[in-house]
Amino acid sequence: MQALLDAGLPVASSCSGDGVCAKCKIQVIEGMRNISPENATESFLRESKGLPGDQRISCQVQVLGDITIDTTYW
Ligand code: FES
Repeated sequence: MQALLDAGLPVASSCSGDGVCAKCKIQVIEGMRNISPENATESFLRESKGLPGDQRISCQVQVLGDITIDTTYW
């Protein structure tokens, strides 16, 4: 989430990155290996929201290299 904001891109959120709303979800098109592993908060949101494996909760991940993403609200 912070990398997106630093790049000047909008990120949907109603919890300010606290890992509650899941509105900041992104679809990873390329580079899943360049994103930090899923933490417990993200795993809980994935289960409760039924998110597919190619979607990540952007406020809960760190970008470790090049990635290509999309969102439903861009
Ligand atoms: S901003 Fe709410 S879960 Fe990421």
